[in-house]
Amino acid sequence: MTAMTQAELKAAAAQQAAQLVQPGMVLGVGTGSTVAYLIAALARRRAAGLNLAAVVTTSNRSKTQLAAVGFKVSPLAEVAQVDLTIDGSDRVAPNLDGIKGGGGALTLEKNVAVNSKRVVWIVDESKVVPRLGGFPLPVEVLPISCEQNFRRFGQEGLQPQYRLTPAGQRYVTHYGNYIIDLAIDPIPAPHGLAAYLDQLPGVVEHGLFLDICDEVIIAHRDGQIESRQK
Ligand code: A5P
Repeated sequence: MTAMTQAELKAAAAQQAAQLVQPGMVLGVGTGSTVAYLIAALARRRAAGLNLAAVVTTSNRSKTQLAAVGFKVSPLAEVAQVDLTIDGSDRVAPNLDGIKGGGGALTLEKNVAVNSKRVVWIVDESKVVPRLGGFPLPVEVLPISCEQNFRRFGQEGLQPQYRLTPAGQRYVTHYGNYIIDLAIDPIPAPHGLAAYLDQLPGVVEHGLFLDICDEVIIAHRDGQIESRQK
Protein backbone atom coordinates (compact mmCIF):
# COMPACT_ATOMS: atom_id res chain seq x y z
CA MET A 1 0.00 0.00 0.00
CA THR A 2 1.27 3.49 -0.81
CA ALA A 3 2.14 5.53 2.28
CA MET A 4 -0.56 8.07 3.02
CA THR A 5 0.13 11.80 3.01
CA GLN A 6 -0.07 13.74 6.27
CA ALA A 7 -3.30 15.39 5.09
CA GLU A 8 -4.82 11.96 4.38
CA LEU A 9 -3.75 10.76 7.83
CA LYS A 10 -5.37 13.75 9.53
CA ALA A 11 -8.56 13.19 7.55
CA ALA A 12 -8.60 9.47 8.44
CA ALA A 13 -8.21 10.11 12.18
CA ALA A 14 -10.89 12.80 12.04
CA GLN A 15 -13.27 10.56 10.12
CA GLN A 16 -12.94 7.83 12.75
CA ALA A 17 -13.49 10.28 15.62
CA ALA A 18 -16.62 11.69 13.98
CA GLN A 19 -18.20 8.25 14.42
CA LEU A 20 -17.93 8.68 18.23
CA VAL A 21 -20.42 11.56 18.15
CA GLN A 22 -23.90 10.52 19.27
CA PRO A 23 -27.22 12.33 18.69
CA GLY A 24 -28.18 14.69 21.54
CA MET A 25 -24.63 15.23 22.77
CA VAL A 26 -23.10 18.51 23.87
CA LEU A 27 -20.01 18.37 21.66
CA GLY A 28 -16.71 20.20 22.05
CA VAL A 29 -14.81 20.82 18.83
CA GLY A 30 -11.15 21.81 19.03
CA THR A 31 -8.80 23.75 16.81
CA GLY A 32 -6.30 23.05 14.07
CA SER A 33 -5.81 21.48 10.68
CA THR A 34 -6.84 17.98 11.86
CA VAL A 35 -10.00 19.37 13.43
CA ALA A 36 -10.82 21.06 10.13
CA TYR A 37 -11.29 17.54 8.72
CA LEU A 38 -13.42 16.65 11.73
CA ILE A 39 -15.73 19.57 11.06
CA ALA A 40 -16.08 18.45 7.44
CA ALA A 41 -16.97 14.94 8.66
CA LEU A 42 -19.48 16.36 11.15
CA ALA A 43 -21.05 18.39 8.37
CA ARG A 44 -21.64 15.16 6.45
CA ARG A 45 -23.21 13.55 9.52
CA ARG A 46 -25.39 16.62 10.05
CA ALA A 47 -26.58 16.40 6.45
CA ALA A 48 -27.47 12.76 7.18
CA GLY A 49 -29.63 13.82 10.16
CA LEU A 50 -27.30 14.14 13.19
CA ASN A 51 -28.79 16.47 15.81
CA LEU A 52 -26.67 17.73 18.70
CA ALA A 53 -27.89 19.39 21.94
CA ALA A 54 -25.16 22.03 21.63
CA VAL A 55 -21.75 22.63 20.13
CA VAL A 56 -18.91 24.54 21.79
CA THR A 57 -15.55 25.19 20.25
CA THR A 58 -12.06 26.39 21.16
CA SER A 59 -11.31 29.10 18.61
CA ASN A 60 -12.83 31.65 16.30
CA ARG A 61 -11.37 29.74 13.34
CA SER A 62 -13.31 26.59 14.22
CA LYS A 63 -16.40 28.66 15.08
CA THR A 64 -16.37 30.18 11.61
CA GLN A 65 -15.96 26.78 9.96
CA LEU A 66 -18.72 25.22 12.12
CA ALA A 67 -21.11 28.08 11.39
CA ALA A 68 -20.38 27.79 7.66
CA VAL A 69 -21.64 24.19 7.68
CA GLY A 70 -24.76 25.03 9.71
CA PHE A 71 -23.81 24.38 13.36
CA LYS A 72 -24.89 26.94 15.97
CA VAL A 73 -21.98 27.43 18.36
CA SER A 74 -22.63 28.15 22.06
CA PRO A 75 -20.18 29.84 24.43
CA LEU A 76 -18.66 27.40 26.93
CA ALA A 77 -20.18 29.42 29.80
CA GLU A 78 -23.67 28.62 28.50
CA VAL A 79 -23.39 24.83 28.73
CA ALA A 80 -23.39 22.88 32.00
CA GLN A 81 -21.00 20.18 30.79
CA VAL A 82 -19.58 18.95 27.52
CA ASP A 83 -20.19 15.25 26.80
CA LEU A 84 -17.32 14.74 24.37
CA THR A 85 -14.53 16.98 23.10
CA ILE A 86 -12.51 16.06 20.04
CA ASP A 87 -9.34 18.08 19.46
CA GLY A 88 -5.96 17.81 17.82
CA SER A 89 -2.68 17.81 19.70
CA ASP A 90 0.87 18.88 18.97
CA ARG A 91 2.55 15.98 20.79
CA VAL A 92 1.27 12.93 22.67
CA ALA A 93 3.28 10.81 25.12
CA PRO A 94 2.58 7.11 25.81
CA ASN A 95 0.50 7.97 28.92
CA LEU A 96 -1.68 10.31 26.76
CA ASP A 97 -0.25 13.48 28.27
CA GLY A 98 0.26 16.08 25.59
CA ILE A 99 1.54 19.45 24.46
CA LYS A 100 -1.05 21.72 22.89
CA GLY A 101 -1.29 25.33 21.85
CA GLY A 102 0.67 25.36 18.61
CA GLY A 103 -2.31 27.21 17.17
CA GLY A 104 -2.41 29.64 20.08
CA ALA A 105 -5.81 28.48 21.38
CA LEU A 106 -4.53 26.69 24.49
CA THR A 107 -6.51 28.60 27.11
CA LEU A 108 -9.95 27.91 25.71
CA GLU A 109 -8.83 24.42 24.64
CA LYS A 110 -7.92 23.54 28.22
CA ASN A 111 -11.09 25.10 29.64
CA VAL A 112 -13.27 23.12 27.23
CA ALA A 113 -11.30 19.91 27.83
CA VAL A 114 -11.43 19.96 31.64
CA ASN A 115 -15.17 20.59 31.48
CA SER A 116 -15.73 17.57 29.23
CA LYS A 117 -16.75 14.09 30.33
CA ARG A 118 -14.53 12.58 27.63
CA VAL A 119 -11.62 14.02 25.65
CA VAL A 120 -10.42 12.42 22.41
CA TRP A 121 -7.42 13.66 20.44
CA ILE A 122 -6.93 13.01 16.75
CA VAL A 123 -3.38 12.93 15.44
CA ASP A 124 -1.20 11.56 12.69
CA GLU A 125 1.68 9.37 13.84
CA SER A 126 4.23 12.22 13.66
CA LYS A 127 2.74 13.65 16.88
CA VAL A 128 3.44 10.55 18.98
CA VAL A 129 6.62 10.80 21.06
CA PRO A 130 8.26 8.48 23.61
CA ARG A 131 8.70 11.38 26.09
CA LEU A 132 6.87 14.68 26.24
CA GLY A 133 8.84 17.19 24.17
CA GLY A 134 9.77 17.71 20.55
CA PHE A 135 7.62 20.82 20.35
CA PRO A 136 7.97 24.26 22.00
CA LEU A 137 5.77 24.50 25.08
CA PRO A 138 3.39 27.48 24.77
CA VAL A 139 2.75 29.66 27.81
CA GLU A 140 0.09 32.38 27.55
CA VAL A 141 1.09 35.40 29.63
CA LEU A 142 -0.51 38.70 30.58
CA PRO A 143 1.20 41.67 28.90
CA ILE A 144 1.42 43.49 32.28
CA SER A 145 4.18 41.20 33.57
CA CYS A 146 5.40 39.48 30.42
CA GLU A 147 8.94 40.89 30.64
CA GLN A 148 9.38 39.71 34.22
CA ASN A 149 8.10 36.24 33.35
CA PHE A 150 10.23 36.11 30.20
CA ARG A 151 13.36 36.91 32.27
CA ARG A 152 12.35 34.40 34.95
CA PHE A 153 11.96 31.64 32.33
CA GLY A 154 15.39 32.49 30.94
CA GLN A 155 16.97 32.31 34.42
CA GLU A 156 15.30 28.91 34.97
CA GLY A 157 16.90 27.61 31.73
CA LEU A 158 13.55 27.25 29.98
CA GLN A 159 14.78 28.99 26.78
CA PRO A 160 11.88 31.40 26.24
CA GLN A 161 10.96 32.96 22.90
CA TYR A 162 8.06 35.29 22.26
CA ARG A 163 5.79 33.87 19.58
CA LEU A 164 5.75 36.22 16.61
CA THR A 165 3.41 36.73 13.68
CA PRO A 166 4.76 36.35 10.12
CA ALA A 167 5.13 40.17 10.15
CA GLY A 168 7.42 39.95 13.19
CA GLN A 169 4.93 41.36 15.71
CA ARG A 170 4.17 39.63 18.99
CA TYR A 171 1.36 37.12 18.51
CA VAL A 172 -1.74 38.19 20.47
CA THR A 173 -4.20 35.56 21.72
CA HIS A 174 -8.03 35.73 21.72
CA TYR A 175 -7.74 37.26 25.18
CA GLY A 176 -5.21 39.97 24.35
CA ASN A 177 -2.23 38.11 25.82
CA TYR A 178 1.18 37.06 24.49
CA ILE A 179 2.58 33.57 24.06
CA ILE A 180 6.06 32.67 25.25
CA ASP A 181 7.25 29.36 23.79
CA LEU A 182 9.67 27.38 25.96
CA ALA A 183 12.23 25.32 24.03
CA ILE A 184 12.72 22.58 26.61
CA ASP A 185 13.07 19.20 25.02
CA PRO A 186 12.36 16.71 26.40
CA ILE A 187 10.39 18.01 29.37
CA PRO A 188 12.01 16.16 32.28
CA ALA A 189 9.21 16.49 34.84
CA PRO A 190 5.93 17.60 33.21
CA HIS A 191 3.90 17.67 36.45
CA GLY A 192 6.59 19.68 38.24
CA LEU A 193 6.81 22.17 35.39
CA ALA A 194 3.00 22.44 35.23
CA ALA A 195 2.83 23.13 38.98
CA TYR A 196 5.55 25.80 38.64
CA LEU A 197 3.75 27.53 35.75
CA ASP A 198 0.32 27.24 37.41
CA GLN A 199 1.44 29.27 40.42
CA LEU A 200 3.24 32.09 38.56
CA PRO A 201 1.34 35.40 38.59
CA GLY A 202 0.81 36.59 35.03
CA VAL A 203 0.71 33.09 33.54
CA VAL A 204 -2.78 32.65 32.14
CA GLU A 205 -2.37 29.07 30.88
CA HIS A 206 0.21 26.69 29.49
CA GLY A 207 0.19 23.94 26.93
CA LEU A 208 0.91 20.99 29.22
CA PHE A 209 -2.28 18.93 29.03
CA LEU A 210 -1.70 16.32 31.73
CA ASP A 211 -4.26 13.69 32.80
CA ILE A 212 -6.80 15.28 30.45
CA CYS A 213 -6.99 13.06 27.37
CA ASP A 214 -9.01 9.83 27.58
CA GLU A 215 -8.36 8.47 24.10
CA VAL A 216 -6.07 9.26 21.22
CA ILE A 217 -6.84 8.18 17.68
CA ILE A 218 -3.60 7.83 15.72
CA ALA A 219 -3.49 7.54 11.94
CA HIS A 220 -0.41 5.61 10.80
CA ARG A 221 1.25 5.94 7.42
CA ASP A 222 0.57 2.28 6.60
CA GLY A 223 -3.17 3.04 6.78
CA GLN A 224 -3.76 1.60 10.24
CA ILE A 225 -5.94 3.66 12.60
CA GLU A 226 -5.04 3.00 16.20
CA SER A 227 -7.05 3.91 19.29
CA ARG A 228 -5.16 4.22 22.58
CA GLN A 229 -7.27 4.65 25.68
CA LYS A 230 -6.50 5.59 29.28
C1 A5P B 1 -4.19 24.67 18.81
O1 A5P B 1 -3.84 25.62 19.74
C2 A5P B 1 -3.47 23.38 19.02
O2 A5P B 1 -3.49 22.89 20.30
C3 A5P B 1 -3.94 22.33 18.04
O3 A5P B 1 -4.92 21.50 18.59
C4 A5P B 1 -2.78 21.55 17.67
O4 A5P B 1 -1.81 22.50 17.25
C5 A5P B 1 -3.03 20.54 16.57
O5 A5P B 1 -3.13 21.18 15.35
P1 A5P B 1 -2.94 20.46 13.97
O6 A5P B 1 -4.06 19.48 13.87
O7 A5P B 1 -3.04 21.55 12.94
O8 A5P B 1 -1.61 19.81 13.98
